[in-house]
Amino acid sequence: MTRGRFITLEGGEGVGKSTQVARIVARLEGLGIEVVRTREPGGSPGAEEIRALALNGAAERWSSMTETLLMYASRSDHLERTVRPALRRGAWVVCDRFADSSRAYQGAGGGVPLEFIEALDVGVVGDDQPDLTLIFDLPVEIGLERALARGGADLRFETKGLAFHQRLREGFLAIASAHTERCRLIDATGDADAVFVRAWAAVEPLTSRALAES
Ligand code: TYD
Repeated sequence: MTRGRFITLEGGEGVGKSTQVARIVARLEGLGIEVVRTREPGGSPGAEEIRALALNGAAERWSSMTETLLMYASRSDHLERTVRPALRRGAWVVCDRFADSSRAYQGAGGGVPLEFIEALDVGVVGDDQPDLTLIFDLPVEIGLERALARGGADLRFETKGLAFHQRLREGFLAIASAHTERCRLIDATGDADAVFVRAWAAVEPLTSRALAES
């Protein structure tokens, strides 16, 4: 059995990732691929409990260092219980946010040293790095406007201020250029249909390769 493919979607607030996750999953399923749709923080019962802890409350409830540890605790459980078992049985995993969010939010945004995050990543994620990461990019003002209009309970990161979100965007752009093998930068301006065309152009080569192998 060939290992499934692991695809992650990343970006700042309000870039429209969740819509794109749903569309990518639907298109893959249309090709007859078994897909597990998941998210971080969360994605397994224990990790969802950690999610509630990490995302609710005042913006300054946790330091960036504590956030990093909560995110990797969630990630560890999610990998053990959801991601690795799925990949092992040949299913594909499409995950709304993963480790690049820790690099961008806690690292670039929150000032946690990147070497510390990378050290955690080696221990927790190890060889199970994503095969493909789509990084959705949008000017900060547009993203925040969309996110605040949407509202919802998980507003801790959305209320951190413009400078934080600017560092976040720069962090994601830096990740995209440091990992050109794994990452594709997707222009998230325009409507969901236009963004999906760009996103699918990045995913499609993986499916052709996988279908050729099977
Ligand atoms: P969510 O409601 O899923 O936000 P979005 O719709 O923007 O994806 O909340 C996830 C929040 O958690 C988001 O603000 C980013 C943050 N986060 C981190 O700070 N570090 C991480 O490692 C992850 C996975 C998420």
